[in-house]
Amino acid sequence: MNNGSVIATGDSVADTVKQGAGLRNVVAGESSISSIDGERGVLAYRGIDIHALAEQSSFEEVAFLLLRGHLPARAELDAFTQELRRERPVPAPIVSLLKLFPPATHPMTSLRSAVSALGGFDADGNDDTPAANARKALRLTAQMGTVVALVDRVRRGRDPIAPDPSLSHAANFLFMLTGERPRPEAERAMDMALILHADHEFNASTFAARVAASTLADVHGAITAALATLKGPLHGGANEAVMKTLQEIGAPERAEGWVREALAAKKKIMGFGHAVYRTEDPRATHLRRMSRQLGEAKGERRWYDLSERVEAVVRAQKGLNANVDFYSASVYHILGIPTDLFTPVFAVSRVAGWTAHVLEQLGNNRLIRPESEYTGPRDVAYVPMDQR
Ligand SMILES: CC(C)(COP(=O)(O)OP(=O)(O)OC[C@H]1O[C@@H](n2cnc3c(N)ncnc32)[C@H](O)[C@@H]1OP(=O)(O)O)[C@@H](O)C(=O)NCCC(=O)NCCS
Repeated sequence: MNNGSVIATGDSVADTVKQGAGLRNVVAGESSISSIDGERGVLAYRGIDIHALAEQSSFEEVAFLLLRGHLPARAELDAFTQELRRERPVPAPIVSLLKLFPPATHPMTSLRSAVSALGGFDADGNDDTPAANARKALRLTAQMGTVVALVDRVRRGRDPIAPDPSLSHAANFLFMLTGERPRPEAERAMDMALILHADHEFNASTFAARVAASTLADVHGAITAALATLKGPLHGGANEAVMKTLQEIGAPERAEGWVREALAAKKKIMGFGHAVYRTEDPRATHLRRMSRQLGEAKGERRWYDLSERVEAVVRAQKGLNANVDFYSASVYHILGIPTDLFTPVFAVSRVAGWTAHVLEQLGNNRLIRPESEYTGPRDVAYVPMDQR
C-alpha cells in the first residue's frame, strides 16, 4: 500500500490535517481498477477512456472489465453474461423481509438491509476463499437490480416480477421494475447510465467497502457498508436531491432567482461541484446528451431545458460544473423511475466497481487504519461521581 506522504517539510501536523481535510489530496492506497485526471476531466476503467466505453460497450462488458481486469473476448463475455443472468434471482425470504418494512421506508434503507441479509442465503455461505469471494462478487452484481426492483414493487403492494434471462442487464432491470419490456432507446439509456456509474476510484462508498474488506469482514458486509455510504446527498444521494430541486424550481425562468437565493443562503446546489474534477465531469457529457435525446423522443424536453438553464446559471454565478448526478436525474425521471429510487439505481451499477475493489483489497490486504490528530484536553484528572 502507498501510504501517501502528505506531510511536507515545514508543515505542522495541524496544517497538514487542514489541507487534507476529508482526506482530500491524500493517496490512500493503490488500485489498478479506475483512474481519474481531475484537471483534464478524464475517467478510465482499467486504462480505457470512459467515452469509448460509454459509446461502444455494454454494462456486462464493463462489469467483466472491472472484475476480471481486461476486456473480454467474445466467448468470455458470453459465458460471463450467462452467469450474470443465471445469478439474478434472489431467495424468497428476501421478499418476505422486504414486506416487513413500512411503505414509507427509504428504498436505500431496505436495499441496504436486503443486501446484508443476502449474505445469510448466499450459496457460498461462510466460505471466504478467493474463489468463493469472486463468485459472491459476480452474484451480487447480478442480484442488485433484482433487489432494487423488488424493493419498489413490494412497497407498492405489487407482485414481484421474475428476472427474464433473455434480456440484457439494463433491459431486465427496467422490465422487473415496470413489468414492460423497454423500448430500445430506453434500454440504451439505462445501459449507458450503468456503464457511466460503474466505478470511480476511491469515492466515499468504495473506500467504505475497502475499509470493511480490510478487516477481513465478508463481501456482503463490505457492500452493505458501501450502500450505507452511498445514500448520503453529498455522494450518491445527490441524484434524488437534484430531481427534487428541479421540481421545486419548476420552470427555466425561475432558475436564476432560485440559484441566487440558494447561494446567498450558502446552500449546496445538488449535482454540482466535485471533490476531484476541476473541469467537466466526463460522465455528465453523456448524460446531458442522453437527457436531451430521451426528452425529445418522448416529446417532453421540459426537464432537459430546465436542467440546461440551471447549469448555465450555476456556472455563471459560482463557476461550478455539473457532475454525474445532475443529468442522471432527468434521464431516470424520463425513464419513469421514481425519484427515491435514483440512488438505488446508482447501486445497481456501482456494485460492479465495489466488488472489484473488495477483491483487489483482499488480494493484497493490509488493515486500513489511519490515525487522527487529537485535539482534546490531556492529563485530565478523573473526578469521582459525587464530586462533579
Ligand atoms: C461533491 C462535493 C461534496 C465536493 O466537495 P469538496 O471537494 O469538499 O468541495 P467544497 O465543499 O470544499 O467546496 C469548495 C467551494 O465550492 C463550494 N461548492 C462546492 N460544491 C457546491 C455546490 N454544489 N453548491 C454550492 N457551492 C458549492 C463550497 O461551498 C466551497 O465554497 P467556499 O470556498 O466559498 O466555501 C460538493 O461539491 C458538493 O457538496 N456538491 C453537491 C452534492 C453533489 O452533487 N454530490 C455528488 C458528487 S458526484
